[in-house]
Amino acid sequence: MLIEIPELLNPAQIDKIREILEGAEFVDGRLTAGMAAQRVKANEELAQDPQIQQRLNRIVMASVGQNARFRSAVLPHRLADFIFARYQPGMRYGDHVDDPIMGGGKFRTDVSMTLFLNEPDSYEGGELVIRTPFGDQQVKLAAGSAVVYPSRSVHHVAEVTRGERLVALTWIQSFVREPDRRELLFELDQAREHLLRTEPDSEHAKRVDRSYANLLRMWAEL
Ligand code: NI
Repeated sequence: MLIEIPELLNPAQIDKIREILEGAEFVDGRLTAGMAAQRVKANEELAQDPQIQQRLNRIVMASVGQNARFRSAVLPHRLADFIFARYQPGMRYGDHVDDPIMGGGKFRTDVSMTLFLNEPDSYEGGELVIRTPFGDQQVKLAAGSAVVYPSRSVHHVAEVTRGERLVALTWIQSFVREPDRRELLFELDQAREHLLRTEPDSEHAKRVDRSYANLLRMWAEL
């Protein structure tokens, strides 16, 4: 399941990130790709620079950690540092699945996130295309908005034909590994939130709240 996280970053944060990235060095994205992905990957990624990386991560991580929709949809346990990538005309990333284990063996990737950093009308092409059992889903969101999807999904980035596509990417190990279970918990959490807001003292609000907690306990892996 794809879930959009609208307005994960505000315009001031996006401006700040773009300002930092403007002066930064980018390198060939194949340097960070696994063997199969290397063959289909054509983009550029921010060169390793701990100082710049730290400044960027500080901006993005605070928003991600506090976003209720992200937390409910992803149930994040471990989160990778963001990678900043850009696609210029002619660049693309063919069909692939993301690496299963990252951080030198520190975590499993359950959920992938793409955070869009420039406006969709400033470039042509560059859609994130996720293959699902119900057909291809194309995603190209407003600056500051993100999409999360299971890391096991086959996906690609369509060729950019004009302008520049700028995105931040991260991968998350979820407390709940199975996408179907995460989806069910996400739905139940929305019902729970609604009931706790509209009729907090009702018996069924309490039951749904307890069921959510105990279902999460049943499925969570630490
Ligand atoms: Ni990918």
